[in-house]
Amino acid sequence: MAYKQVAGTNFPLATNLYAPIAQSRLPHLAQNDVSATMPAMSTIWLKPEHRPLEPYAIDVAAGILANLGPMVRQHAPAPSCGIVSDSIVAKHHLAAAVASLQSAGYRVVEFVFPAGEANKTLATVSRGLDCFLAARLERKSPIVALGGGVVGDLAGFIAATLLRGVPFVQVPTSLLAAVDASVGGKVGVDHAVGKNLIGAFHQPRAVICDVELLRSLPDVELRCGLAECVKHGIIRDVVLLEFIAANTQDIFRRDAKILTDLIAQNVRIKAAIVSEDPFEHGVRALLNLGHTFGHALEVVIGYENLKHGEAVALGTVAAAHVAVQRKMLSPQDAHYIERLLQSLGLPTRLAAMDINDVLAAMAGDKKVVDGRLRLILPTGLGAAVIIDSASAAEVRSGLEYLITGPICG
Ligand code: GLY
Repeated sequence: MAYKQVAGTNFPLATNLYAPIAQSRLPHLAQNDVSATMPAMSTIWLKPEHRPLEPYAIDVAAGILANLGPMVRQHAPAPSCGIVSDSIVAKHHLAAAVASLQSAGYRVVEFVFPAGEANKTLATVSRGLDCFLAARLERKSPIVALGGGVVGDLAGFIAATLLRGVPFVQVPTSLLAAVDASVGGKVGVDHAVGKNLIGAFHQPRAVICDVELLRSLPDVELRCGLAECVKHGIIRDVVLLEFIAANTQDIFRRDAKILTDLIAQNVRIKAAIVSEDPFEHGVRALLNLGHTFGHALEVVIGYENLKHGEAVALGTVAAAHVAVQRKMLSPQDAHYIERLLQSLGLPTRLAAMDINDVLAAMAGDKKVVDGRLRLILPTGLGAAVIIDSASAAEVRSGLEYLITGPICG
């Protein structure tokens, strides 16, 4: 089904309240040889408040793929490791990643599957498990996920289930994976009934994010990552929204410093929320802003026609509309959100859709609690709430707005 791509507009640049992020050096890297060859890096720690989860670092810098092997070895020493990637990412980055892992002494077992959300299935997981079991990976052998959100989710699920759980390291190659999917331990695959319905929580030992890898990322994928960045800004941090608005051009130029700052700001928000609520019993649900609508749109419109980030953008607009109807969000703030998404080239309207199909798909979502639909609604720029009692009429109104709502000028 077609959807209207609203062209980028001249979003008025808001005052940039952003203060540069202090570059930090990792104590754990300073203890060994790796630090000597490291470029400047932003490091964010995710420190879960709940035992037995272990803290881990998210390192963000340009050029750190070259040090992948020594960095993985720090977190998961073993004779062998597995690496999971998809057919597109593998063409660009697999050889360098494998060379670095081998230089650190690993026997490397590769599992590459055809790119695309349609392959994020139990069947692909099964093939990956066959591959790693046949190659006799051991319980200490880490699985390295080299790719975007699909690769990270799938590789993480393999790591969670292989030999009842092996170490796992995320190496995100898309903005979406860097700012969201690689952090927080949600791993899994899709089912015909809905997205991400089969999975586990399996935290990585480390997240190693090389912003240079985003150079080969198509603009459409960069936009999808920005949809998740806007989500983080809406729920927690207006300064992040201002930063995105003020630095859009540099983000699309893939300026390494701006991308490092952007990713670090997002990861800080995500790490703080996941630290507080790793298993999504409460506040972590805020990270699902736009996702209840978005997942259903993806299922109905088809993964090949609507990317996850695009669906999140549409879902965020629908959620903002519901919040305005409830008088929880000012029309001005809803307008700001929509204009920002438009300025990034993200879709905010659909040409048409079968609303009944979308409602049916929403009923199959994980976010149905006791038969009631859970929605995350923005209440301002930097604030959102969890609503457990969204009515069918409200949800319908949010979806209708995507088709018939006046386009913000
Ligand atoms: N992507 C939402 C979460 O990790 O909770």
